[in-house]
Amino acid sequence: MDSGDVAACWEANAEIWTQHARAGYDLYRDALNTPVFLANLPDIAGLNGLDIGCGEGSNTRKLAEVGGRLTAVDIAPTFIRHAQEAEAEKPLGINYLEGDGTALPFPDASFDFATAFMSLMDMPRQDLALAEAARVLKPGGFLQFSILHPCFAPPYRKVLRDEAGNVRAIEVGRYFDGIDGEVETWRFGAAPPEVKASVGPFRVPRFHRTLSEWVAMIVAAGLTIEHMAEPPIDAERAQREPYLADTLIAPLFLHIRARKGAAA
Ligand SMILES: C[S@@+](CC[C@H](N)C(=O)[O-])C[C@H]1O[C@@H](n2cnc3c(N)ncnc32)[C@H](O)[C@@H]1O
Repeated sequence: MDSGDVAACWEANAEIWTQHARAGYDLYRDALNTPVFLANLPDIAGLNGLDIGCGEGSNTRKLAEVGGRLTAVDIAPTFIRHAQEAEAEKPLGINYLEGDGTALPFPDASFDFATAFMSLMDMPRQDLALAEAARVLKPGGFLQFSILHPCFAPPYRKVLRDEAGNVRAIEVGRYFDGIDGEVETWRFGAAPPEVKASVGPFRVPRFHRTLSEWVAMIVAAGLTIEHMAEPPIDAERAQREPYLADTLIAPLFLHIRARKGAAA
């Protein structure tokens, strides 16, 4: 699958994805991933930042609300249109544009920081995406990103529950399958059944890489890892939303912050 095919999949997902994410159905994002990501973010007040693979812009807006001066790119025009409409309704000074994370339309050393919420693993050439992020960072700038956890969310992941419905274990497989564009189909788990039934599933091309491959790509891009997180949901929230409880047994997401030119 080439980058044009990947872009076409995301463009086809974008309308319903935007509606459902804004309806609160992207619960892993809203209840777990984004709060932890923001809690681990250095102070960005007054800094120029780039959000790579911004989708409809929910997380970009959160970065702007804590004082960042944001530019954001996404490959799918419909996501950018929705993000721009939200900006027009409630201006936060965010500049959204269509763009490819593996060929960023910015000069070298343009930004103090970059973020990528759950987008780098969706790009066929993650090595290029990381190199491009590093290129547009100023020396000393950082890239913070979240991805599906390479170890605990490889191409095969099954949540095993006991008879009472409690998560007992996570079964994983195909860790060493470096898949390039195998399409997964799913809907947001928190969407009510009638909403799920009313739309086709998202089609998400996957580009799985092992943990050591991720580290090698980060190092090759000239970035130095300075922080990692593997967020679990809090136990009380898992009681209320049992389908998030898998993250109490093994992580679903991996967060990394890496800095340009920080190596000794
Ligand atoms: C899982 S969604 C995450 C969206 C958003 N960051 C969020 O957290 O809600 C992945 C996003 O990456 C975008 N994307 C995929 N490939 C891309 C590429 N090569 N360049 C820029 N964006 C890309 C998709 O269009 C999609 O918006």
